[in-house]
Amino acid sequence: MMSITNPPPFVTTLDIRSIRDAFPVLKQQVNGHPLVYFDNAATTQKPQQVIHALNAYYQEYNANIHRGVHALADKATMAYEKTREMVQTFIHAQHVEEIIFVRGVTEAINLVAASYGRTLIEEGDEILISAMEHHANIVPWQWICQERKAKLNVIPISDEGEIDMEAYHQLLSSRTKLVAVNHASNTLGTINPIKEIIRDAHHAGAVVLIDGAQSAAHIPVDVQDLDCDFYCLSAHKMYGPTGVGVLYGKKELLERMPPYQGGGEMIREVSFEHTTYNELPYKFEAGTPNIADVIAFQHAMKFILEVGLDNIAVHEQALLAYATEKTENLSFIRLIGTAREKVGVLSFVIEGIHPFDIGQMLDARGIAVRTGHHCTQPLMARLGLDGTVRASFALYNTFEEIDQLVEGLNKIIRFLK
Ligand code: ALA
Repeated sequence: MMSITNPPPFVTTLDIRSIRDAFPVLKQQVNGHPLVYFDNAATTQKPQQVIHALNAYYQEYNANIHRGVHALADKATMAYEKTREMVQTFIHAQHVEEIIFVRGVTEAINLVAASYGRTLIEEGDEILISAMEHHANIVPWQWICQERKAKLNVIPISDEGEIDMEAYHQLLSSRTKLVAVNHASNTLGTINPIKEIIRDAHHAGAVVLIDGAQSAAHIPVDVQDLDCDFYCLSAHKMYGPTGVGVLYGKKELLERMPPYQGGGEMIREVSFEHTTYNELPYKFEAGTPNIADVIAFQHAMKFILEVGLDNIAVHEQALLAYATEKTENLSFIRLIGTAREKVGVLSFVIEGIHPFDIGQMLDARGIAVRTGHHCTQPLMARLGLDGTVRASFALYNTFEEIDQLVEGLNKIIRFLK
């Protein structure tokens, strides 16, 4: 079993052994080696509680929600709505109806672009994103800008991977109607100064959407303290199931926005001539939602809160510091993304070896990393790269696993050079 053998400051206060015990998938061998799972920015593994909650729903009380009068429908509805309350607690939202369930961050951003963008962005307006956005926080804004004859501006970043705040201030103007940036970059790990970004955008009269895909499982989030207008989450990057996410929006904004999709649940009254809409949050939840996965998501958040986001952050920062120190010492590695504040993401390249080949050779040693452009092609173009190798850490990772990564990289280099 894993043991923490490294001297301070590379220590953890987490009981990693019992945390790892909760994740069945981690107990396997891959290609003859114990699995080292370093692809957590793509998706995290799921604890037993989440898997159990999924099974329990289908085995014991599968029913559609909000519509039925029978016992199973009632139980399913209560469990589904309990998740909404837990999201409210998790991100410190003022009102429970500010929590909209969607498929993930991608759908959350598309919802805001389609609903807010189509009605409140006018010709000549500007939308501001950063150079380190995921495609999901680029493409929907490109569409809206084309449709509304608005302009998409991009905040430049430094070579280290930090937003150029001076350039940001220069780009902000009374024409800026919306700023959309990530809380943490999936490719570089950079934690962006979103509180400052939000404050300054508000001074210019713009609303702000934060893509929280890479932050919510790693940094405590308080949407009221941040004062963001929209915050987007994906459950599957938070030890929860795929196919579930959250759009948080300030109530007064969500109330002004038209529905995104038409169907059941989102209506109050329908005739062939006219339709009126349901209240928040149901106005934005057309059709039967992903009931089982929403319910299981509750158990993922409970798990995170029980371990404690502060404890998780300390552990992951120690892993990042250890991995950075170890890989910086390897002459053949060039780290990509060296911002002062980062989540546990270590992106790197090796001169002369394609990231894909490194990924495959690490996989042969049981080490799972992601390689390629990480759905951030404009960022890759800015950095002059085709792609990187990315190791991304979660609360169940250990210093020993980082040693295995470093040993694997050394062996690859000895083999290839
Ligand atoms: N956006 C996810 C990643 O960075 C899939 O891997």
